[in-house]
Amino acid sequence: MATDFLALVQRDHVDLQKELTLLLDPIASPAELRGSLDGVRLGLTAHAEAEDIVLGRFESISLLDALVAQARASHLAQESALSALVSARPGSASWRERACHLRDLVRHHAAQEEQYLVPGLRRHAPREMYTALAGAFATERLRQLAMLQPSAPLYFPEVPEVREVREVREVREVREIRMMADARVS
Ligand SMILES: [Fe+2]
Ligand SMILES: [Fe+2]
Repeated sequence: MATDFLALVQRDHVDLQKELTLLLDPIASPAELRGSLDGVRLGLTAHAEAEDIVLGRFESISLLDALVAQARASHLAQESALSALVSARPGSASWRERACHLRDLVRHHAAQEEQYLVPGLRRHAPREMYTALAGAFATERLRQLAMLQPSAPLYFPEVPEVREVREVREVREVREIRMMADARVS
């Protein structure tokens, strides 16, 4: 059975919460926190950009335009919260406050999309448009990640959680590229 759009965005939302929580680790060093922030920046930007691009095709459906506009507005709020966090000193009081704020925004965004946006798309979008959404989102997300890769790979062997999140994401992306290549062949 084909992967559903909801399953893909839910998985990203869960990963993002884990990565955002690493920013609040009280014993992490500034370098480790910067590494965690890099993971959040990549994951959140690729997720939001991919959603904005694939959801654009539903804007002309009158029953969905408000939900799509709401998703876009929440992405803009997250982007500005991320910019504020990038300029804070890792581990400082303002870092923690801004990281908490960003995590709250992403949590609210996830609930909004999972409870209202995706059910709305299922109900009001043409069936073939909804079915094509998962593949379009997965492709766009990978394209965004490829464009966003940091110039030098970051590696923190002393932080197993960071390594684990990165490894899980890398393995998953290789698997998704293979699945898409297979789908094109068949
Ligand atoms: Fe979103
Ligand atoms: Fe999302």
